[in-house]
Amino acid sequence: MSYHVIHFDEIDSTNSYLKNSYKLLDNFTFVTAAYQSKGKGRNNRAWSSNKGENLMFSFLIKDTSLLKKYSALSILSAVEVAKSLEAYNFKDVSIKWPNDVLIGDKKVCGILLEGQILEYIVIGIGLNVNQKVFPIDLRRPATSLSLEAKKDFDINVLERKLFDNIVTSFKNINNNDFMTYLQSHNYLLNKRVKTIVNGETFIGEVVGMDYNFNLQIRANDMLLHIDSGEIEIL
Ligand code: BTN
Repeated sequence: MSYHVIHFDEIDSTNSYLKNSYKLLDNFTFVTAAYQSKGKGRNNRAWSSNKGENLMFSFLIKDTSLLKKYSALSILSAVEVAKSLEAYNFKDVSIKWPNDVLIGDKKVCGILLEGQILEYIVIGIGLNVNQKVFPIDLRRPATSLSLEAKKDFDINVLERKLFDNIVTSFKNINNNDFMTYLQSHNYLLNKRVKTIVNGETFIGEVVGMDYNFNLQIRANDMLLHIDSGEIEIL
């Protein structure tokens, strides 16, 4: 499998590292860290994780044909994480749009995309593996593989399988197979939600996801296609 891995015992953020060094590095360079002192989450939140207990990594995309598929990359990453968890026999795995991975109703993995349009993309993934205690102020209850399975996991083994799967699926991105998986693992499907579009609040029911990976919400006889933003479950 053609990719590189750089490991840090400690770093500010694997996403930041790749953003600062992308010019010197190859497509499919993976950066892992046992600890991040300034881990970043979506919407300018922090992402904190106990040292050595979880899988935290980022990888670099520079390939032009992949860069053109920006929105597919984020969702495809979530699909690969979810599939890997199912391969480990986890049940009730789903994807909460845009790219959280859940077990039951709890978040087990978050994904943060950063970059410059058509120049490079960094995809950062934080998967809770062996951590057992999480801060109670999290907006959504978190879980980890060890909390769910009541045993610990070898992070290195998990990591290599996931990297292999990500690289393979990114190389085959054109076959669109992951759309079917996505539709059947859409956590928000049929849920009543609230969202704000251009300052206007909409309440409606999630009816699916379109081929541009927008969330489809039926609200007041309108079909909204949401491409970004926060979704609140009612
Ligand atoms: C989220 O808010 O759900 C996204 C969390 C993304 C966390 C990962 S951990 C590895 C990579 N480096 C970071 O600083 N963030 C991402």
